[in-house]
Amino acid sequence: MSQTELERAVGEVLIDEDTLRTRVAELGAEVSGDYEGRDLLLIGVLKGAVFFMADLMRHITVPCEVDFMAISSYGDSTDTSGIVRILKDLDINIEGRDVLVVEDIIDSGLTLSYLMRNLESREPASLEICALMTKPSRRQIDVPVRYIGFEIPDRFVVGYGLDLAERYRNLPYVAVLASDLQPAEI
Ligand code: IMP
Ligand code: MG
Repeated sequence: MSQTELERAVGEVLIDEDTLRTRVAELGAEVSGDYEGRDLLLIGVLKGAVFFMADLMRHITVPCEVDFMAISSYGDSTDTSGIVRILKDLDINIEGRDVLVVEDIIDSGLTLSYLMRNLESREPASLEICALMTKPSRRQIDVPVRYIGFEIPDRFVVGYGLDLAERYRNLPYVAVLASDLQPAEI
């Protein structure tokens, strides 16, 4: 089968489909165990977390609802400024609810740190984070993350919801772009 234009842009697959599927199922089982007997509200951070959240939910066995928030950080696209703007707020009142924020990736931690402070002020019964990936070496501010799918090195990744300028979200795996590979890696 010949490579598609999309596949040609991929330099290196960092997390393949099977590995993603297995880990997402494990996270779903862990969440289900921890929230046994409670109703869960999943809050997805648009747009990147949608893909992960849809798969994660199908492994959650306690009653759960979903809502979404869209936020954007001021400044350029690859570096977070820490100043965050809410583009779309929740539809649901989270007061007294058990809330799990689902995020695609934590880099500096600034976006999520702002979001958590904002959500905390709405007085949920509990508030935790589930992130598919984290880049610990990039962290500027500590965010307590209850569930982590994968720790990855300081590389810019795309696929499984993650984008570069809105593209590559539809790759079924997590990859580094060919244009991002260092000469020594080619
Ligand atoms: P933070 O505020 O620096 O933690 O930024 C987190 C946000 O930056 C994520 O929700 C992503 O939208 C974006 N981001 C960080 N690293 C990557 C990456 O490697 N690929 C794609 N998006 C990323
Ligand atoms: Mg994002």
